[in-house]
Order: sequence, then C-alpha cells, then structure tokens
Amino acid sequence: MKKPTPSYESQELRDFGEVLRGRRTIELFLRKLVPAALVKEALEAAVWAPNHHLTEPWRFYLLGKESVASCLELICDIVTTKKDAKMGEFKAQSWSEKPGWLVVTCRKSDDESTQREDYAACCAATQNFMLYLWKAGVGSKWTTGDITRDTRFYDIVGINADEEFVVGLIWYGYPKLTPTQSRKPIDAVLIQLP
Ligand SMILES: Cc1cc2nc3c(=O)[nH]c(=O)nc-3n(C[C@H](O)[C@H](O)[C@H](O)COP(=O)(O)O)c2cc1C
Repeated sequence: MKKPTPSYESQELRDFGEVLRGRRTIELFLRKLVPAALVKEALEAAVWAPNHHLTEPWRFYLLGKESVASCLELICDIVTTKKDAKMGEFKAQSWSEKPGWLVVTCRKSDDESTQREDYAACCAATQNFMLYLWKAGVGSKWTTGDITRDTRFYDIVGINADEEFVVGLIWYGYPKLTPTQSRKPIDAVLIQLP
C-alpha cells in the first residue's frame, strides 16, 4: 500500500523537524569509529544540496592517520606561536580525540555572484552531511578556526589555494556529551508582510 504523503500534522514531519532542531555542535566524542560506509552515504546525501547552475563547487577531503598527525603538529605550532607551548600541547591533545576529520572546500570563482552562490551551496552541502550523520546518531563540529586559513594546512590536505578555499573542517564521531542550545523565538526574526 502506498504511504500517505506527510502533512504538516504527520509524525514523520515532526520527527524530521526534531532532527533539524536536535542537531548540536559536538565537542566531546566517544572513541568509537564511525563506519566509512556511513560517511560515504552522508557525502552522497550532501551533494544534493541546492546549487545554482549545478556548478558542484565542493570537494571533500577525508583525512587519515598521517594527515591528522600532521594537523596536530600544526595546531600545536599555531597555538604555541599565538599563546605558549603548554597551550599548544593541550590543544593538540584535545584535537587528537576527534575521531573523524573531513575538510570541505569550495571552488574559487572570479565572478563575485558565482562565488557567493557556490559558497552558499557548499554550506548547504555541509549541513546536509551533518544532518545525515546526526540522524544516524553521529555528531559533528564545523570549525573555521585559524588552522583552516593556514597555508601549511592547505599543503597537508593537498588543497590548491589558487583553485579552492576551505569552507570548514568538520570533526565527526559518536557524541560523548550533547550540549543544550537555544534560539530566539521565530517571531523575533520573522517579518510578516501584508
Ligand atoms: C561556518 C561556521 C563556522 C564555525 N566555526 C566554528 C569555530 O571555529 N569554532 C567553534 O567553536 N564553533 C564553530 N562553529 C559552530 C558554532 O559555534 C555552532 O554552530 C553554534 O555554537 C551553535 O551551536 P549548534 O550548532 O549546536 O546549534 C561554526 C559554525 C559554522 C556554521
């Protein structure tokens, strides 16, 4: 029998909304590894983001043990230079506990409007990726910290800075702790025109 189309009253739709509202940025992860097949599925869903002119401007880089180790050395160095060696080591230690590392990049464009649209599409793809994982019980954190703008990071990941820029470094894994969050009520940001 054909399933009824979900209406605004359906449980299916409420559950979908709960996935959107319930996703949280996760800082602390369990050691358990996320199956590679699930990550691949999430990426497959990610690329169905809206994308003006179907430019498909995204690239996804999945980091392995060696590239993660290089990132840990780099963040240690960045923080040591900015603050001190103790803080650098602390940061590298905390980052070593992130189970999964994905870098999302966007193709550069000389046309300002295309660049904005492409970046927007890459952000939508990133959100798709995170939501797909969330529904599977996997949390994530999108970061655009100093490391994502460092040329040495581009070298580690193998990004050609003339052609792409980093949209985000996404850590993912099973959440150890899910924080609470709040948002303004929608009426505070909704302008209803006659
Ligand atoms: C483009 C982008 C960049 C972000 N960069 C960082 C970051 O560098 N550091 C950080 O702690 N969180 C970062 N976040 C996560 C936000 O801080 C987080 O989404 C916000 O606190 C709301 O929490 P929630 O995702 O649980 O709703 C970023 C989020 C986005 C969308």
